Amino acid sequence: MKALVVAGARPNFMKVAPILHGLDTASHEGILLHTGQHYDAQMSDAFFRDLGLPEPAFHLGVGSGTHAQQTARVMEAFEPVLVKSKPNWVVVVGDVNSTLACTLVAAKLKPDIGCQVAHVEAGLRSRDWRMPEEINRVLTDRVSDLLLTPSRDAHPNLLAEGVPADRIVFVGNVMIDTLVTQLPKARQLDMPGRLGVRRGEYALVTLHRPSNVDDRAALRAVLEALAQIASRMPVVLPIHPRTRKNVEAFRMASLLDRLHVVEPVGYTEMVSLTNDAALVLTDSGGLQEESTVLGVPCVTLREQTERPITLTEGTNRMAPWPLSAEGIRSAFEAALDSGRSPAGHPVPEGWDGRAAERVVSALVSRSTI
Ligand code: UD1
Repeated sequence: MKALVVAGARPNFMKVAPILHGLDTASHEGILLHTGQHYDAQMSDAFFRDLGLPEPAFHLGVGSGTHAQQTARVMEAFEPVLVKSKPNWVVVVGDVNSTLACTLVAAKLKPDIGCQVAHVEAGLRSRDWRMPEEINRVLTDRVSDLLLTPSRDAHPNLLAEGVPADRIVFVGNVMIDTLVTQLPKARQLDMPGRLGVRRGEYALVTLHRPSNVDDRAALRAVLEALAQIASRMPVVLPIHPRTRKNVEAFRMASLLDRLHVVEPVGYTEMVSLTNDAALVLTDSGGLQEESTVLGVPCVTLREQTERPITLTEGTNRMAPWPLSAEGIRSAFEAALDSGRSPAGHPVPEGWDGRAAERVVSALVSRSTI
């Protein structure tokens, strides 16, 4: 079996690594394609190094642009690659523009070359159509042949949209495979020590959603809350390029003065920072899941989450909406009071470090050759 595995942006790399490894272990051919949606050393290369990812067999080099430009460039560059490589499967992960672009191309070439599309992390829904990722998720699921879900709560979402039940397979969370593999290395890194903060005594923050950082009032509310929290404990903020640009454009740089602002960090460094944080404040999807498995309290800076299992079976809580400095502060206090989960705490089903094995089994059993 031959599978072309697509990665484009930072949150994809930790999901494709265990799938490629699983394919290799089971003696199948896994071919890595990087669309180049993320291209910085810190947003891309650092992840290849940390995760031991192979050089991509194909690099489309699409770079930044508007949504239409990015999606169109990936589609145009992907089509000839797919025609040439003729895999049995195109495996896409997550919800970024590259995910949707490659899925559309493969779905339309299917009658000619016979490839099927598998979507890993299928069925998550925020029901917020202002999020580009929600559009990407729904459309990707609609035209994929095999929907591999990270949690069982994704199944009713897909069934309600008319997806036939026999296309849906529960596999668990592949991102946690990578977390489990990298945790011993991360524990030895002591990132907090390197940044001059004490283990267990700082807040870790990530912020990049357009709804938070492209809007002046929202960005101000979050940064004001963080400045206030910084008087209680150090706040570490690895800053996303989109956020950095907007802080400068809105002339809000002075609100960062009291924070430990660092460049985006590599994967293992981020796991080290998350594992040793007193709590996490974030608008990322992945960090809600990672903090749940690590037992670290998390405050999500969004109106809703497409990962509700982290609220019901994990350490996550939503900041009151609409975001305000006061609301974020009170959610911070509540999360801090809740404390870290004890060692051996339960985690959601299938978040066990073996999801990629189940992905590979599903691909094999649904393969048409
Ligand atoms: C993308 C994904 C989002 C994911 C996030 C993680 C979509 C629609 N969004 O959002 O789901 O959570 O990645 O990071 O696919 N930039 C750099 N260097 C890079 C990459 C981007 O400087 O390596 C700059 C770009 O020029 C752009 C900004 O960062 O101005 C945003 O990049 P973009 O890929 O458009 O979206 P993200 O906000 O990163």
